[in-house]
Amino acid sequence: MKIAIVVYSQTGSTRKFAEIIEKKLKSKKHATDLFDLKVTGDVHPGAKNFKISNSPDISSYDTVLIGTPVWAFSSAPVIPAFLKNKDLKGKKVLPFVTMGFPFKVLGGTRAISVMSKAAADNGAEVLPGSIVTKLFHNYKAMMVSEGEKICDRLKK
Ligand SMILES: Cc1cc2nc3c(=O)[nH]c(=O)nc-3n(C[C@H](O)[C@H](O)[C@H](O)COP(=O)(O)O)c2cc1C
Repeated sequence: MKIAIVVYSQTGSTRKFAEIIEKKLKSKKHATDLFDLKVTGDVHPGAKNFKISNSPDISSYDTVLIGTPVWAFSSAPVIPAFLKNKDLKGKKVLPFVTMGFPFKVLGGTRAISVMSKAAADNGAEVLPGSIVTKLFHNYKAMMVSEGEKICDRLKK
């Protein structure tokens, strides 16, 4: 399976999670590429006035993993902007997020549902997403165990 991991990360946590996922997938002999989205302009919760300066071509991938931090109880706006007008027919898409608060209901669940809807609207088969909550958790261990679960979901 050829897998693209497309991540937006401002302070490195979601990028770290993406790297852990990639390592797990590579250990299971998947071909992966990790793309770290960069933006120009002012990006903040709800922002529209920014541009992704290095949007990757994902047309040749069977599966696309999309990762973002939770901002203001939802997805940071970069991944939804990346998905806009992307043809995702025939692709599996799996969203993943990191968040500061300890409870998924404080933005994680909504961020996953926003990304899932954007991907499904463009034709993707969307797999259940993954949420890492940082505060009061051993979130590095959680990233490793979530990475394992993501590999299992991709097998089906
Ligand atoms: C502008 C902003 C808004 C945030 N809003 C939330 C939030 O609503 N819920 C939450 O759990 N964490 C929130 N956080 C914390 C981030 O989701 C968390 O630190 C995340 O792991 C950062 O990911 P990154 O290091 O990949 O940028 C917010 C952070 C920022 C900068």
